[in-house]
Amino acid sequence: MTETPSRIRYGGDYNPEQWPTPVWNEDVRLMQQAHVTTVTVAVFAWALLEPEPGRYEFGWLDDVLDRLNRGGIRVILATATASPPAWLAHRHPESLPVSIDGVRLAFGSRQQFSPSSAAYRHHAMRLVTQLASRYAAHPAVEAWHVGNEYGNHVPRSYDPESQEAFRVWLRNRYVDIDALNAAWGTAFWSQTYQSFAEVGVPSAAPMIRNPTQVLDFDRFSSDALLALYRAEAEIIRSHARDVPITTNFMGFFKDVDYWSWAPHVDVVSDDLYPDPADPRSRVLSAAARDLMRSLGGGKPWLLMEQATSAVNWRPPNVPLADGRHRLNSLQAVARGADGVLHFQWRQSAAGAEKFHSAMLPHAGEDTRVHQNVRRLGEELTRLGDLVGADVPAKVALCFDWDSWRAIEQDGTPAVVDYLDTVLRFYEGFLRRGVTVDFLHPEADSSGYSLVIAPAAHVLSDDAVRALASVSARGDALVVTYLSGVVDENLHIRLGGYLGGEGALRGALGVRVEEFAPAADGAPFGISGGISGEAHFWQELIRVDDAQVVSTFDSGFAAGSPAITVKRHDGGGAAWYLATRPSTALMDELVTAWLADGRVAAVFDRAVADVETVVRGGRRFVANHAATPTVVTVDDRRIDLPGYGAVWVES
Ligand code: GLA
Repeated sequence: MTETPSRIRYGGDYNPEQWPTPVWNEDVRLMQQAHVTTVTVAVFAWALLEPEPGRYEFGWLDDVLDRLNRGGIRVILATATASPPAWLAHRHPESLPVSIDGVRLAFGSRQQFSPSSAAYRHHAMRLVTQLASRYAAHPAVEAWHVGNEYGNHVPRSYDPESQEAFRVWLRNRYVDIDALNAAWGTAFWSQTYQSFAEVGVPSAAPMIRNPTQVLDFDRFSSDALLALYRAEAEIIRSHARDVPITTNFMGFFKDVDYWSWAPHVDVVSDDLYPDPADPRSRVLSAAARDLMRSLGGGKPWLLMEQATSAVNWRPPNVPLADGRHRLNSLQAVARGADGVLHFQWRQSAAGAEKFHSAMLPHAGEDTRVHQNVRRLGEELTRLGDLVGADVPAKVALCFDWDSWRAIEQDGTPAVVDYLDTVLRFYEGFLRRGVTVDFLHPEADSSGYSLVIAPAAHVLSDDAVRALASVSARGDALVVTYLSGVVDENLHIRLGGYLGGEGALRGALGVRVEEFAPAADGAPFGISGGISGEAHFWQELIRVDDAQVVSTFDSGFAAGSPAITVKRHDGGGAAWYLATRPSTALMDELVTAWLADGRVAAVFDRAVADVETVVRGGRRFVANHAATPTVVTVDDRRIDLPGYGAVWVES
């Protein structure tokens, strides 16, 4: 996306196939007035592009792209493969996905394909070949959008073709069946397999399913979708050498491991619909932006979709109050986005999403929503200096799909919400105005002076070594409860959790002996060097070589250490936290951890509703509350109206 580097991209999905052609002219005119630079075309147009197998109708798309081109609007061209036409389901019912209970899902909604269907793959690739050869050199096309929200609605299919593909994937991973038996621990409950032919997908079963089989199927399913994405991208690449190719991620989406996907997209793009009725959505949305930036290794990303106001899939669909669409949009830019796009340009008159807001509402241009859209478009024209700019961070927060999936399986010590757990730590830094990057636990963290590993339940030997290196090199490490419990096959690390006998236990100087999730929601006290309240979780830990900072006052682990730190030669520090801190206790801990990491907080005390982040020499400051507030940043007083957001020189 290098053609007009001085503009933040602005626009949305454009579905002209839902409208008669006179509307198309009005669309281009209104897009220009709203400062739209970019639209995503043909996301769900397969049935119109290929009404019968092998009969293509590209005339209408030629017309649309030419009109947009004449109007100076750039196009992100979709491959239209997210929703196959009726004829595919009719001729190839085996292409439809099967649920965990063995139910074949029907045609009539969208995304009704099994990721391993040969028929789907054949027809999808044929369409992409046609599109790529026809539009590769079209002057309006500035990027390609492959599929749509891979894994949304149908992340896994339990059909016979998926079963076969799973066996192939397992053969590649384990080579022989004994290795699979060892990895899956099949000696338990008489699950031993004699051959790969006996191995199935983990469909609904009488009781807890084999944990490693379930995790491997999650991994396989993400890989199967990635293979589809990559196959389409390869076809496009063979026709359009230099045009960026992407697909839209969905923030923290459990079913698709974006660490493994990110290297295959030229630009990370994301869809995010923060819930205005959820006071914690400000945390989730800031974190999702930071995740997108982190997935791309710090590179700018693209907000591919958001809503201008209400969605149509929540109970109830609360609209965005004035200021909130702007705040969401500028938050994305401040946290690294080079574009702000929406679902969708013109609100649909029919179909499943006719009540979903759009840039141009049913009521037309003289509306609250559209006037806000115009004002924002105009404002974004003045932020061109941010295009390509970095968002510096010194704190890294480990995030890992294996841990997410494994800790939320059946048969674990408690029902744990992994994302919520991670976000509690993220929020601790957000409240101090400290920017955080997300990091895979195996990744090199040497650019960060403070690394936090919350509930890092699954740790490979590489991850254990990577984490242990943080305090050894003189930086600060924080590891929390439920970390290092199992390896990548979900086998317990024996000899005390925290990576068993390994390097991490040495780094922290403690080992975990027993878990004690609390039976009720009652808080328990922590006292010592850092005091406060904690909830939900206690552990019995043994201290080998660390300083006890605080102990539990009550509960199963009363008198036992709750917080420890081991100080290393060279200035490194390794903290262990054996419980879930309250918000106030988290604020105290963050203060201590920032000090050990030599990271300065922007707010000297925790601020609940204000966020701040620096990008490209501009500091973004935003108020997520409906009421006005005042904050002090760098000794400057900043007045913010309700849902207000400003940029100040940093
Ligand atoms: C997703 C899809 C869009 C649309 C929106 C509605 O992001 O990609 O096609 O369905 O949700 O919120």
